[in-house]
Amino acid sequence: MSAAAVKRIGVLGGGQLGQMLGLAAMKLEIECVFYDPATDAPARVAGRHIAAAWNDQVALERFAREVDVITFEFENVPSETLAFLGKFRPVWPRVRSLELTCDRIREKEFLRASGVPVQPFAPISNNAELDLALAAVGPHGVLKTRSLGYDGKGQRVVKAAHELAPAWEALHCAPCIYEAFVPFDREVSVLATRAADGSAVVYPVIENLHTHGILFRSIAPALISTELAQAAEHYARRVLEALDHVGTLALEMFVADNTLIANEIAPRVHNSGHWTIDGARTSQFENHIRAVAGLPLADAGMNEFAAMVNLVGGIPETSEILGIEGTFVHLYGKAPRAGRKVGHINVVAPTRATLLERLVEVERIARRVNRLA
Ligand SMILES: Nc1ncnc2c1ncn2[C@@H]1O[C@H](COP(=O)(O)OP(=O)(O)O)[C@@H](O)[C@H]1O
Ligand SMILES: [Mg+2]
Repeated sequence: MSAAAVKRIGVLGGGQLGQMLGLAAMKLEIECVFYDPATDAPARVAGRHIAAAWNDQVALERFAREVDVITFEFENVPSETLAFLGKFRPVWPRVRSLELTCDRIREKEFLRASGVPVQPFAPISNNAELDLALAAVGPHGVLKTRSLGYDGKGQRVVKAAHELAPAWEALHCAPCIYEAFVPFDREVSVLATRAADGSAVVYPVIENLHTHGILFRSIAPALISTELAQAAEHYARRVLEALDHVGTLALEMFVADNTLIANEIAPRVHNSGHWTIDGARTSQFENHIRAVAGLPLADAGMNEFAAMVNLVGGIPETSEILGIEGTFVHLYGKAPRAGRKVGHINVVAPTRATLLERLVEVERIARRVNRLA
C-alpha cells in the first residue's frame, strides 16, 4: 500500500466519531465511506453512507471494493464481518486490537500480560463462580457484562457479599467480569496513535469526570505529577506495541493512592479526545486518518490548556455557548434523547485558571440542558 494510493477510507460505524473522522479526512482530500445499519447515521453528512446489515456479504463486498483501506469507529462490529472484509482490503487497526478489547476479561488479561497494572478481577458465568469471584476480589466491586457495555451500561456496583448474586441476576446472568472497586482520586485517559511503521504519538494525559457512567467533562493536561504522566504514556506505548496497533486508541485509567490502574482500552478514537480538534496541534481524528492512510503522523502536543464538555440529551443555544471566550461547539445532527450524546463543547485558554473559569460557565449551561436518564 503506497501512501499516495489511499483516496478512500471505508469506516465501519457511522456515529459522531465517524463524522469527525470524515471531516478530518476531507482536508487531506481523502473521502470516507461509512457502513452502518442505521439509516440516520450521523456520519452521513461527512461522506457517503451505506446502510446495510453487518452480515450482508453482498453489501460488504461492494463497500470493500469501493475503498482502499478499512477502519472502524465502533468496536462492536462482529469479528466475522471484519474477517470477511479483510479478504478484500487491509483493515486497520487489526482484528486483533478489537478481539483483545471487546471482552472485558480478555482485555484485563491482556493488560496484565503487557505489564500494565489492573485491579483484581474474576469471571462469572455460573453460580459456582460467584463464590470464587467473591473470594478473589472481595465484597466491594463492580460487576460488568463482559461485552457490549458502554457509557456505564451493563454494570452494577456491589457493596456487600450478599449483593453480588442479585446484581448478576439483574444483568440477566450474562457472562460477567467482577472487579474490585477502585476508590480512585481521579480518572485519566491517554490517547495515542501508532502508524504501521511503528512510529507513535502520545497526547497529553487527560483527566475525566463521569456522571452516571457517562463522560461529562475532560481536561487536558491532567493535574498529575510528571512521574505519573510519564508512567501513563509508557503504558499507552506498551499497549500500542503489544497490540501492534495501527490507528488511534484510548487507555482509560484510575489514579488511586498515587498509582495508575488500567480500566479499559478503546481501540479507536475516543470521546475523551474530542478536545484535540480545537486544543491539540493535530486532532486524534486526523492522526487516525493519517495512520490508516499510511501518512506520517503529526504533533500530538498542545499550545494552550483545553477541555471538553459533553452535551447529553439536550442542546443549548449555540450563541449562548459561543458568547464565552475560547469555546467551540460541535453538534452531531442527532435528535436529543435522554442519555444520548448529541454534541460537545471544546474550551481552550492560555492558563489553567482561565480554562477553569470558562469551564464553570460552560458546565453550568451543559448541566442545565443535559438529560442523563
Ligand atoms: N472498578 C471500578 N472502580 C470504580 N469505578 C469504576 C470501576 N469500573 C468502572 N467504574 C466507573 O464507571 C465508569 C464506566 O466504566 P467503564 O469500565 O469505563 O465502562 P464503559 O465501557 O461503560 O465506559 C468508569 O469511568 C468509572 O467512573
Ligand atoms: Mg469507559
